[in-house]
Amino acid sequence: MTVSGAKNASLALMPATLLAAGPCRLANTPRLRDISTMSTLLETMGVDIRHPGTTIELDTAHVHSQEAPYEMVKKMRASFYVLGPLLGRYGHARVSYPGGCAWGPRPVDLHLRAMEALGAEITIEGGYVIARADRLRGAEIQFEISSVGATGNALMAAVLAQGSTVLRNAAVEPEITQLAHFLRRMGAHIDGIGTNCLTIEGVDDLHPADDSNIPDRIEAGTFLAAAAATGGNITLENVSHEHLTAVLELFRRAGCDISVTENTITLQSDGALTAIDATTAIYPGFPTDMQAQWMAMMATANGSSVITDTVYFDRFNHVPELQRLGARIDVTKNTATVHGVETLTGATVMSTDLRASASLIIAGLIARGSSEVLRVYHIDRGYEAIELKLRNLGADIQRVDSEDY
Ligand code: EPZ
Repeated sequence: MTVSGAKNASLALMPATLLAAGPCRLANTPRLRDISTMSTLLETMGVDIRHPGTTIELDTAHVHSQEAPYEMVKKMRASFYVLGPLLGRYGHARVSYPGGCAWGPRPVDLHLRAMEALGAEITIEGGYVIARADRLRGAEIQFEISSVGATGNALMAAVLAQGSTVLRNAAVEPEITQLAHFLRRMGAHIDGIGTNCLTIEGVDDLHPADDSNIPDRIEAGTFLAAAAATGGNITLENVSHEHLTAVLELFRRAGCDISVTENTITLQSDGALTAIDATTAIYPGFPTDMQAQWMAMMATANGSSVITDTVYFDRFNHVPELQRLGARIDVTKNTATVHGVETLTGATVMSTDLRASASLIIAGLIARGSSEVLRVYHIDRGYEAIELKLRNLGADIQRVDSEDY
């Protein structure tokens, strides 16, 4: 199975093209709902976009608006990524303040404080962030906590600021490294890429560039979890195993046989997994975006596993749905204890968010009998034709029309 391009890298690369006028081509861009949401937002601002196959072409020569309306931002929090590039290139932006998400509050205080540190004047009016700056000035910014989005926004604002910027406690997720490489190709001066201390020498202008996106490590981990849980043998193509070190370690400890080459991962499992604890952490730790999928795997493992999410304390909406399938899970604060059961029993369950949907599909593949997963629009946000990819791997799964779309 070929892994698609990284959603969370594309969602930063696309707004980054606002930093220069002209055409950029981004190869290995996945065809997902979130990508089309970002495309629609950028098109309303005047960016011309074509997405033939998996290369997306964005021409920013005729951008006429520096606004991200509520209707768009409410659909996808990553829309907030336009703030940094708009401020950096145009000196002003009006971006809807993102609300919460399916599992709880998703603040943007770190983003706003970084913009103010770079000299922007920020006000909140009618649910919108109004940001202004004649020209951003380089600054030393120490992030209180490591934030992927805040690091991305600060990076995209700093590349055109006057003078040098240092971002300390910056996120080191591969998606941020990919963004930094793309900005360098556009002419930005960035040092420390891949470390949690990024130094940016501002330049007066950038030029359009092309790039090819990294593979999606979370899509890869999700398919590995499906194969591990059902006793499968799969090989993933076009994947960077070095982005999944912590995840592969846990799969091995759970009893899977894993082998890797430069751009493939092969997993073999007999389906009889050992219960293994998992605690999420910022990269390179076990990702919070794999927490729900790991929980589905552990539902029928031998023994009990303790799963703690240290990034989002309330990311457990998948628990009640897994319990409908027969999983035995107790949640206390940001920790779930999963008591492995013999098997799950098929049922109708409800998706609540992107990774919860993936967890329910994995559980449905494990369960005896058939299951129906409702509201699969959640899963289409982050997985390209997941039922086709799973069917090609031997799963009995199809998409059916449902009144409860
Ligand atoms: C990115 O979200 C990803 N989204 C998320 O993936 C992922 O779960 C998350 O990083 C953590 O890895 C995209 O890249 C589009 P954060 P982001 O800022 O940037 C707190 C998926 O499934 N925080 O790194 O929003 C925050 O509450 C999605 O693809 C503040 O307190 O995450 C959280 O506890 C879901 N203030 C922690 O930091 C802020 O200003 C990490 O969040 C920003 C964040």
